[in-house]
Amino acid sequence: MGSPPAPVTLLFTILLPLFVSFLAGAPLALGWRPWPNQDKPNATDFIYGASKKYEGSSDFVHLKYHMGPVLTANITVYPIWYGVWQNSQKRIIREFITSFSAFNSKPPSVSGWWKTVQLYTDQTGANISSHVHLGEEKNDRFYSHGKSLTRLSVQSVIKSSVTARTKPLPINPKSGVYLLLTSEDVYVQDFCNNVCGFHYFTFPSILGYTLPYAWVGNSAKLCPGVCAYPFSVPDYIPGLKAVKAPNGDVGVDGMISVIGHEIAELSTNPLVNAWYAGQDPVFPVEIADLCEGIYGTGGGGSYTGQMSNGEDGATYNMNGIRRRFLLQWVWNPLLNYCTGPNALDQ
Ligand SMILES: *[C@@H]1O[C@H](CO)[C@@H](O)[C@H](O)[C@H]1NC(C)=O
Ligand SMILES: *[C@@H]1O[C@H](CO)[C@@H](O)[C@H](O)[C@H]1NC(C)=O
Ligand SMILES: *[C@@H]1O[C@H](CO)[C@@H](O)[C@H](O)[C@H]1NC(C)=O
Repeated sequence: MGSPPAPVTLLFTILLPLFVSFLAGAPLALGWRPWPNQDKPNATDFIYGASKKYEGSSDFVHLKYHMGPVLTANITVYPIWYGVWQNSQKRIIREFITSFSAFNSKPPSVSGWWKTVQLYTDQTGANISSHVHLGEEKNDRFYSHGKSLTRLSVQSVIKSSVTARTKPLPINPKSGVYLLLTSEDVYVQDFCNNVCGFHYFTFPSILGYTLPYAWVGNSAKLCPGVCAYPFSVPDYIPGLKAVKAPNGDVGVDGMISVIGHEIAELSTNPLVNAWYAGQDPVFPVEIADLCEGIYGTGGGGSYTGQMSNGEDGATYNMNGIRRRFLLQWVWNPLLNYCTGPNALDQ
């Protein structure tokens, strides 16, 4: 499971509908990998690359609201640093999260990106909150549950962090996002096998509370070509070249888009009964899944879309606090296609 998929499997996956890549995971695999994808597979598109306005738009996408709650109150993200993390790595991720509500950032910005997520509402018409704060943090330096975690033991890690004897994380079921970040030497069930992160909620039987959480792993050692694409590419795909990471850390820069993906989906579908497409709630296709691998105008098929290059030669598509990031787009419920702040027509 830890090994990257064979070339055939990978190409096959790129050409298959979104829904099938989800079926390939375990039940409740709310997983994600940053590879370009498309909902209407077309081999010609894959070979020549898409140049038309594509951006995931499709008459076949029926994103629906299923009446459950969404995160409408000020959102607080509680990072849980599992394993060994450098301060420089923590700083990149903290500044990314703080960028969500940094309304004065230079456009195109992460806060501009979050505006699309704010277009989602609940039954009462309340929007997703514009305020995303960085909350208390927990260090789990000594791998409390080992270096190989299952989906279920991930819940136990969250439990340990909210029940710790010293400085436990607050219990905040209404607007807390518990963000478990595992270091590069930690394996999590299905990691690299089409899964780079997932979100779900804790079970009252394990924790006593239903807390929405997300997990994102640092793939630098295990599978950067899968989970830190396009800062790393699998060497068995000819002609594909990696681009330079904007914050100089392939693993962490690769995590940024996955963290954004998971927080966007968790906010609009925290209990997996709110915003998603597809018939089956066991395999929901959520607002970021629909835009997997799309970072700019023209994106879709195997093409990431237009991105920018900094003076330092690094590739990014939006600005945040003191930094630049590469972050995938999300589905716009009013326009019915993927949008982002760096779209050329905005
Ligand atoms: C693939 O899609 C393009 C544009 O959407 C279309 O022109 C072409 O005919 C399609 N090719 C196949 C094999 O369906
Ligand atoms: C939400 O956050 C903003 C900005 O920090 C703050 O001004 C406001 O009072 C908060 N609202 C609530 C209900 O806590
Ligand atoms: C709230 O959502 C509605 C429906 O998508 C949208 O028209 C409105 O602009 C949103 N408000 C904010 C503040 O984003």
